Amino acid sequence: MGLHMIQGVKIPEDFNLPQRACSAHIEQDALLFDKALETIKKHNVFLIAHYYTSDIMQRLAEASGGFIGDSLEMARAGRDSSCDTIAVAGVRFMGETAKILSPHKTIIMPDLSAECSLDLCCDIEDLKRVKAEHKNAVLVSYANTSAQVKAISDWVVTSSLAVELADYLKKIGKDILWVPDKNLGSYIANSANVDIYCWPGKCIVHDAFLGNSLKYMKDEHKQAKVLVHPESPSDVIELADFVGSTSQILNYVKASNASEFIIATERNIFYKIKQACPEKVLYQAPIASNQGQCISCANCPWMELNSLEKLIKAIENPLDFCINIEQNVCNEAVKPLNRMLNFSALLKSGKELPLDL
Ligand code: 13P
Ligand code: SF4
Repeated sequence: MGLHMIQGVKIPEDFNLPQRACSAHIEQDALLFDKALETIKKHNVFLIAHYYTSDIMQRLAEASGGFIGDSLEMARAGRDSSCDTIAVAGVRFMGETAKILSPHKTIIMPDLSAECSLDLCCDIEDLKRVKAEHKNAVLVSYANTSAQVKAISDWVVTSSLAVELADYLKKIGKDILWVPDKNLGSYIANSANVDIYCWPGKCIVHDAFLGNSLKYMKDEHKQAKVLVHPESPSDVIELADFVGSTSQILNYVKASNASEFIIATERNIFYKIKQACPEKVLYQAPIASNQGQCISCANCPWMELNSLEKLIKAIENPLDFCINIEQNVCNEAVKPLNRMLNFSALLKSGKELPLDL
């Protein structure tokens, strides 16, 4: 049992990161709040935002009756919304997932170039080759992948369900070909004690959290609980009191009696945690630096592309900002996505899982 890393696949060295937003830009966004709210209402748009978008984008989702959540909840919210137009503030795979699940709705994004380093690590031609070399394994793709990758996958899964799915696949005697996150793959292999053939991709934000510095921080804040997103390296995960998706981390803080927390995930999640638990003390887990500059500063550069200014433009010019996916890709990608949503509903119901899902 264990982790088998896949060799010889293309992983970008440099992800061509977008420029960071400057303070003038952020201030300008704040001034656009009322206009953005008015535009959403006028065009009857449902705004779905991820926890990693800016505070102001999350406030806008709240004020407009939209939705904020983790990637699994975003998928459900998009599918269940009765609005014809959905604006997804997040990264491209989140917009694509919404489109695959609701092909007749118009799905717009403030910036269609909002990538995710995990998605960029998973080249479709490499994957087709590796899949052919692992015919006996089930291809399980993390939700942070392109529509093309989903279309050739047996299962899609988000971080909130990954260990449960691996447990299930072990129970029915399947090996797993896992793409693209090496850290989440290693976490699943350890937690579910399964054989995993694992793609060597990474999230540039979470992969920069540092285990040895976290040890010192834990020593300084002995009462603090350490909460970690599973895209983080294994030496960070080893120090965690709790490992989970963004929503699961938020729920852990809400339910916990502890008053201090060290958090290893993207820093914009602090908005929702502080709102729910203003009395609790939160520390950002330490992150790697390069020549004195933090590598990601625990801030996803692609999530940051979601400005209010661009959202207004997207709502006013939907044809220029909408997600389009080839019909045949959509038809295939919806199968593993529905499988995931069905799996999650069954888990929630507490019913015994059938062996032929
Ligand atoms: P969640 O599924 O926890 O929202 O994670 C998505 C993501 O991109 C984490 O970096
Ligand atoms: Fe992708 Fe990492 Fe950004 Fe999440 S934080 S969207 S995994 S690059």
